[in-house]
Amino acid sequence: MKASNIVQQSDTIATALEKMNHTGGDLLVVVDPNGRFIRAVSQGDIRRHLLAGYDLSSKLENLGKADSIFALPDMSFSTIEALFASSLVDKIPLLDEHGVPKEMLDSKNYERILLSTPHMGGDEQKYVAQAFDSNWLAPAGPNLDSFEHELGEYLNAENVLAVTSGTAAIHLALIVLGITTGDTVLCSSFTFAASANPICYQGATPVFVDSDEASWNLSPTALLRAIEGCLKKGQPPKALVLVQLYGQLADVDEVKSICKHYDIKIIEDAAESIGAKYNGQASGTLTDIGILSFNGNKIITTSGGGALVSNNKEWIDHARFLSTQAKELELHYEHKQIGYNYRMSNVLAGIGRGQLQVLDDRVKRRRLIFETYRKRLQEFDVLTWMPEVEGCYSTRWLTTMTIDPDFGKSPIDLIKHLSDNGIEARPMWKPMHLQPVFSKCDYYPYSENLSVCDELFANGICLPSGSNVTADGIERIGDLIADFLR
Ligand SMILES: Cc1ncc(COP(=O)(O)O)c(C=O)c1O
Repeated sequence: MKASNIVQQSDTIATALEKMNHTGGDLLVVVDPNGRFIRAVSQGDIRRHLLAGYDLSSKLENLGKADSIFALPDMSFSTIEALFASSLVDKIPLLDEHGVPKEMLDSKNYERILLSTPHMGGDEQKYVAQAFDSNWLAPAGPNLDSFEHELGEYLNAENVLAVTSGTAAIHLALIVLGITTGDTVLCSSFTFAASANPICYQGATPVFVDSDEASWNLSPTALLRAIEGCLKKGQPPKALVLVQLYGQLADVDEVKSICKHYDIKIIEDAAESIGAKYNGQASGTLTDIGILSFNGNKIITTSGGGALVSNNKEWIDHARFLSTQAKELELHYEHKQIGYNYRMSNVLAGIGRGQLQVLDDRVKRRRLIFETYRKRLQEFDVLTWMPEVEGCYSTRWLTTMTIDPDFGKSPIDLIKHLSDNGIEARPMWKPMHLQPVFSKCDYYPYSENLSVCDELFANGICLPSGSNVTADGIERIGDLIADFLR
């Protein structure tokens, strides 16, 4: 504890004010002759004391006792966090085991930092208000039309359909590609379950494919093994869900040339990679049809939402028709096909319009966060950071890294250490072929002896990467990781 924060009971109000003046108005602690904590004194305490008729020469002992809040060495992060929350103070003295003040804790170091939270740009409410003012509170309206148009301009894509979620977009993509009961659909194993679930909605069978060490995304080598395996079984794959994880892209050219050879359509699952580019071309537009997600944890959000993107107008028109219950163009309600209620609302599209304006800034910030972690922790060669494929501009949606399995401490240990200090970190995605729900599905690893995504899952960790995490927050996390690794 700095001497400038400590006063004795025998000191006067004038001395306390001088110290506060020196520290910029910080809380002071009053100690007894043995240096033990008696109480804290704030500017408000002194003001009330003077208003009660005392003058500047009054001794601090006249302040009397107070139920001042203090923290003790064995208190957990959560307990101290709760102390701050329940007291509305922003400084709390930490005492040692003898009751002597050790340091002044600052509330800003006791705010939880989450993995990735929404970060509004400013204009979202303007567009949402327009929806209310015009009473377009429907899955149609000017915001929705504009959002699709603006998204198309951003991506340089001709046809865009905004829907309720990325999952709905994958489902519609599979339908318009003609995927149906009994079909085989390849899918990256290293992903979130939403990439694969819609394959099952269609009664098709997912076959999972491993990642590549160069991109951590779908491996062309494993893809070839998978296609050959399916062909041997007499189940030629009709489509591939190519997932672009954590804002990073696969070796798209190679994957496309393999799929072209075997006549396999590709759905680019760009749920995590909007804003990323491959040789200058926007992720989401790199294959036959692409999907985006605007879930709350994504780089931009509509709270919940997604989009379907393709240069094939027929597919997008068909998906648009299916997304509004497959209503035929009749005055009465006429239906010839099974439809879905998947259209994005005009209110949420308003959020999307505001978010789109700041997308490039968000990408820059997430890339900066990745670089800041990497530089801060560069002395630790047990860490391997997610690579960036040549020609790819990743958004670094989440900063991810692995810890050498021989290091002796695991990612789970680190996640716990961070959690004990109010930081949310997560393991990387658990591959689909390890998920109980997909245990009966085939999986093709990189080679007989190597499953890259198993290793990434076992050794990987995702760090808080939200564009709204402050520089102080990133520094705090970097320091905690360095402490853990030392
Ligand atoms: C890779 C991937 N695919 C698909 C989805 C599904 O998107 P949504 O949550 O918008 O349905 C997500 C995220 O949630 C995702 O991370």
